[in-house]
Amino acid sequence: MIRAVITGSGSVLPAQCVTNDDLAQRVDTTDEWIQERTGIRQRYIAGEGETTSSLATGAARKALEDAGIDASEIGLIILATATPDHTFPATATQVQANLGCRGGVAFDVHAVCSGFLYALGTADSLLRTGMAKKALVIGAETFSRILDWEDRTTCVLFGDGAGAVVLEAKDVEEDGPGILATRLHADGEHRELLYVDGGPSTTGEVGKLRMKGREVFRHAVVNLADVLKEVLEDASIDAADVDWVVPHQANARILDATARKLNLAPEKVIVTVDQHANTSAASVPLALDVAKKDGRIKPGDLVMFEAMGGGFTWGASLARM
Ligand code: UT7
Repeated sequence: MIRAVITGSGSVLPAQCVTNDDLAQRVDTTDEWIQERTGIRQRYIAGEGETTSSLATGAARKALEDAGIDASEIGLIILATATPDHTFPATATQVQANLGCRGGVAFDVHAVCSGFLYALGTADSLLRTGMAKKALVIGAETFSRILDWEDRTTCVLFGDGAGAVVLEAKDVEEDGPGILATRLHADGEHRELLYVDGGPSTTGEVGKLRMKGREVFRHAVVNLADVLKEVLEDASIDAADVDWVVPHQANARILDATARKLNLAPEKVIVTVDQHANTSAASVPLALDVAKKDGRIKPGDLVMFEAMGGGFTWGASLARM
């Protein structure tokens, strides 16, 4: 059977690391509050010249190198971002130009923090129907540029970065590698709990991020546990047989609560929120790359990805590496 197989990964963080104590100099907060409520210790913030496309291009180059393939072989680039370089064209086309790939398809997917799951699900479908053979799926964000740096309830939570995977359509056995199941959801009723208060067609300004954190938290735990159960059922796999969960990194308490709901051992959950904070669409591929490179996630492992974000949008995917 034809499956989309993850054959490489890569990630990039901006040069500048900002600690909680650094932020406490700017807004009325403390390292203690941030760590206790979120698990975040530091985040990376894009400096001058660092853009969503430059971070995405760096992550894509590393993923191509990891997969051992040339950029010219890529027929599909899907970039998940809520912080594009420009309103148009799609940031994916800038990445395509930077990589020097000609032809193929390149577009952005906008599902905020669930963006990587939406991009992965879309790429999986397009590869399995034969539209392309090799794809780059990237999550990249510069959320620091849409934060209200006066609002302590949001500005301490986010960071910038990019992660990428190479996906290749391969003919594999039933127990072979590849994406086994994906479920995506959206419910626009809740879009005002997490949104940006501007845009090209409304204010004409980029706008700033606004969030009712406590309500988002409550929905996140329920939605994520439900969607993880759905993909496990679709793939007829027991939660106990999952080797690793690579979750969206919004808050350590959401990761703990979701794992508890599914009876998953906490040591199976990859945690990078302490180092990167919430990098929106970049957080899942960033965490995957960290855990692949440090040797935790190995070929043959069963890995679950999950994310929830503005919209609301949420989703999960189950893959054998
Ligand atoms: O990636 C997309 C999905 N996003 C999420 O999943 C985020 C989900 N939400 C969360 O992670 C948490 O709700 C937060 C981390 C945003 C907030 O944690 P919380 O435990 O829900 O705190 P809270 O909003 O209920 O605020 C508690 C108190 C408030 O003070 P009062 O009203 O009790 O006096 C806040 O004003 O903490 C105060 N506070 C802060 N204090 C110090 C809020 N932000 C800060 C801060 N430093 N940075």
